[in-house]
Amino acid sequence: MEARKILVISGPNLNLLGTREPEIYGRTTLAEIEASLHALGRELGVEVETFQSNHEGAIVDRIHQAAAGPTPVSAIVINPAGYTHTSVAIRDALAAVRIPVVECHLSNTHRREAFRRRSYVSGVAVGIIAGFGAESYRLALRAAAALTA
Ligand code: DQA
Repeated sequence: MEARKILVISGPNLNLLGTREPEIYGRTTLAEIEASLHALGRELGVEVETFQSNHEGAIVDRIHQAAAGPTPVSAIVINPAGYTHTSVAIRDALAAVRIPVVECHLSNTHRREAFRRRSYVSGVAVGIIAGFGAESYRLALRAAAALTA
């Protein structure tokens, strides 16, 4: 049987993890997070693909691609970063492909500025994990794997 594939998308500025506002986002780099997701994927028996972009349209394109091809993606974990609070286009792309979504954030967006409390993505996500730093991604991957089991 083909391994189930889970796509993990990280939005803008997350390429700077490690040095970006470490008091909020911690010191773990995105490369370290992604390596730990690949290792966890092997444990869980799922194939993990990672993608980071600072560009809204590139994220929309990647979501569309997830539904195409010989092995479509079974679930998407997405940290839309700043686009969480602004992007109708990313929400619409997620709704269009009908792939189950787990929204994930390093920080607890509800403890921060008021503008971070609104997420355009939550309404199309199965669930949300926020506030556990790099561990949020691993929890989200476990949730996504459980969804597709
Ligand atoms: C974030 C929270 C967002 O509000 C912020 O714009 C980010 C990162 C998080 O992971 O905590 O870039 O998504």
